[in-house]
Amino acid sequence: MNMIFSNSTSRFGLCLFLLTTSFISAHTNDTIYTSQILRDNHNDTLISSTGAFALGFFSPGSSKNRYVGIWYNNIQDKTVVWVANRDDPLTDRSGVLRVIEPGRLLLLNGATNATIWFTNISSTVHVPLARLLDSGNLVVVDENDESIIIWQSFDYPTNTFLPGMKLGKNFVSGHEVYVSSGKSNDDAATGGFTYRCDPSGYPQTVIKEGDSFRYKAGPWNGIYFSGSQNLVKNTLFSFGVVIDKDEVYYYNHLLNNAVYTRLVLNEIGVGQRLIWSGDQTQSWKPYVVFPVDNCDSYKLCGAHGICSTRTSPDCSCLDKFMPTDPQGWNTGHFSDGCIRRTTLNCEDGDGFLMYSGVKLPDTEGSWYNASMSLQECSVSCAKNCSCTAYASLNISNGESGCLLWFGELVNMREISPGQAIYIRLARSELGSGSRKREIIIVTLPVVAGIVLLGLGLFLYYHVRKNPKQQQEEIDNQRNSGETHDEQKIPMFELSTMINATNGFSADNKLGEGGFGPVFKGLLEGQEIAVKRLSTTSLQGAHEFKNELIDEVKRRILDWPRRFEIINGIARGLTYLHQDSRLRVIHRDLKANVFSFGVLVLEIISGKRNRGLTLANHRHNLLGHAWMLYKEERSVELVDSCLEYSSYLSQVVRSIHVGLLCVQEEIEERPNMSSVVLMLNNDGVLPQPKQPGFFTGRDVLRSETWHTSNTAASANTITISLLQAR
Ligand SMILES: *[C@@H]1O[C@H](CO)[C@@H](O)[C@H](O)[C@H]1NC(C)=O
Ligand SMILES: *[C@@H]1O[C@H](CO)[C@@H](O)[C@H](O)[C@H]1NC(C)=O
Ligand SMILES: *[C@@H]1O[C@H](CO)[C@@H](O)[C@H](O)[C@H]1NC(C)=O
Ligand SMILES: *[C@@H]1O[C@H](CO)[C@@H](O)[C@H](O)[C@H]1NC(C)=O
Ligand SMILES: *[C@@H]1O[C@H](CO)[C@@H](O)[C@H](O)[C@H]1NC(C)=O
Ligand SMILES: *[C@@H]1O[C@H](CO)[C@@H](O)[C@H](O)[C@H]1NC(C)=O
Ligand SMILES: *[C@@H]1O[C@H](CO)[C@@H](O)[C@H](O)[C@H]1NC(C)=O
Repeated sequence: MNMIFSNSTSRFGLCLFLLTTSFISAHTNDTIYTSQILRDNHNDTLISSTGAFALGFFSPGSSKNRYVGIWYNNIQDKTVVWVANRDDPLTDRSGVLRVIEPGRLLLLNGATNATIWFTNISSTVHVPLARLLDSGNLVVVDENDESIIIWQSFDYPTNTFLPGMKLGKNFVSGHEVYVSSGKSNDDAATGGFTYRCDPSGYPQTVIKEGDSFRYKAGPWNGIYFSGSQNLVKNTLFSFGVVIDKDEVYYYNHLLNNAVYTRLVLNEIGVGQRLIWSGDQTQSWKPYVVFPVDNCDSYKLCGAHGICSTRTSPDCSCLDKFMPTDPQGWNTGHFSDGCIRRTTLNCEDGDGFLMYSGVKLPDTEGSWYNASMSLQECSVSCAKNCSCTAYASLNISNGESGCLLWFGELVNMREISPGQAIYIRLARSELGSGSRKREIIIVTLPVVAGIVLLGLGLFLYYHVRKNPKQQQEEIDNQRNSGETHDEQKIPMFELSTMINATNGFSADNKLGEGGFGPVFKGLLEGQEIAVKRLSTTSLQGAHEFKNELIDEVKRRILDWPRRFEIINGIARGLTYLHQDSRLRVIHRDLKANVFSFGVLVLEIISGKRNRGLTLANHRHNLLGHAWMLYKEERSVELVDSCLEYSSYLSQVVRSIHVGLLCVQEEIEERPNMSSVVLMLNNDGVLPQPKQPGFFTGRDVLRSETWHTSNTAASANTITISLLQAR
């Protein structure tokens, strides 16, 4: 046996007997009794009941110092998750660990009996024991009632946040649990950084260097920390924040006990969530890293500044704001931030503008109420002149709760999908058109139609990689035989998106963007974000879907409704194209336009492009539309059950625009914002030429809109892009 007894009353003698006769189950040596000691010079270790964790003495890296620590028992390359005496190392192998009454752990120099380290306890028991649990938690409990925990290592983490820990503050005991970095790989001593769940204002996790904040993940919104969306719901571990009057803490729990995951704060203040990969690689794979980039630096752009890694410099002012010190701003000094172009005038009735796609501002000093609606929230912010912004508190089940800010808004960055925040502005600033560098989506007109756009936006994938890696990947893809143009917009079939996102399950939902929810998915091993365009009224779209399969219902969809759908999709696509975060698809959008043209013709005709079979010729829908157009018989394309006479010019115009969108030459296709203008104005349109891919066979090999019968949910029409293969 590894353990011996330093004392020998009769009770301990009994233990000795049991141990030496090995009647004892494997559970025995996960425990130290008051009678036992754990000795470095005997290589004594505790092993947790199922063998996940071990506790013993070790030396980090090249150091010769000795520490008591806990590590993964089954991982060869010793991964230490907790250190007892990190600031009080032993310099030789004389160390002895024991548990003493009334419940203290004691680390002694076995040669001199000098106390090296001990635990502070706030309650006592008569007979304590120390046990290494399978979670990696070392607990000191009452031998007679093990539910009484006197002390646990999970309350005193070192540089690692393990599943089962509560990172946060208990207001009753006043105790705060936080992670603090080590000095280096060779020195376990307390370093300069801490990772905490900050309960001042609405909870957010933060990294501090000493007393200064270096990173704040943004407020918890029920699904993720507003600025840390790479951490998404997954099958390996769950996580969340608990907020009640006694405590506020961030937790994570294993969903699969066979998985090892840990969050470690390294010596330079970077947090990493790692997952053990037990395959041949036998390595820890980073899952989430924070801070990710320059824009994650706390308050980088000052008040009302917004950071984006796409722009140079990273900082700009929120729309309707301007630099406080333009000269300083121009020379890269952003800390003074921005001020309103027009000062507020509360008596006069200020208003609120929605900004979306942002990481919510620092919530220190914020106010919140979980049971208010957004409407009530808006009212209560409007009523209080010092309230500068409001947002929903919890988006995990629709939008609920209320978060109010007072004073300056700091620490914002562009992020997708991001959440919406409503910022107080002078009334005169509201209602004007959008400006160039704006990240605002002022409530887009509600579209009766619904688009489900299966756009794999490789967002998460790209966000995590540095630009060089990204470029390499793009280059690799280009070299793999596919043409340049095909690479630019990844397009996928709806069914692929359904599979990738688990049927757009609530579990995969990352959040709500300006124009619909965004889902996390997994496609060919890559994490993707899928934006699903949606509207509040799904009815028209539902009907439209049925219309393609149901002759009777087809009549319900009158022209105004169809035009609304066309227009809505056009606006939605314009939004997508202009949404700067989606830079992956930003370069060549006119191929995306083609598909839109096909869709327009499908909606007008009530027929599917591929499904069209006409007795007299082999033309598909495009060919048919083109033929009719040339002969000035465009109206014959219109769905036979549609009463369109009062809208004749709009119908003809829509067909014309549809044909322009499907031009063979990409240069001849309009861009989406022109499409919106063309549809809604009476200006003269260019003449279309013969469309590309106008026979049925060709279309199958090219890209086309594809209205799918596979509905993602009962009342959505689903439209996805069919990938050219
Ligand atoms: C723990 O106890 C089991 C069963 O008695 C024994 O086989 C094993 O070697 C012990 N392990 C250690 C590290 O003492
Ligand atoms: C403890 O382990 C070290 C290194 O593996 C070994 O050299 C030493 O002999 C061991 N001591 C005992 C008492 O087993
Ligand atoms: C250390 O303590 C033990 C038991 O309390 C005692 O037997 C031993 O003599 C002490 N050793 C020294 C060096 O004081
Ligand atoms: C116990 O409390 C003392 C005094 O507050 C402190 O110096 C010491 O670091 C604490 N020990 C541990 C292990 O936390
Ligand atoms: C957010 O809302 C969900 C569903 O209503 C609820 O289960 C959860 O506890 C809420 N979270 C917070 C932090 O309020
Ligand atoms: C939170 O809002 C609810 C609903 O408006 C209200 O009944 C409640 O009093 C509010 N709580 C606080 C602490 O303001
Ligand atoms: C506005 O809100 C602040 C912060 O909660 C509060 O201190 C102040 O009394 C409020 N003012 C009014 C007029 O309600």
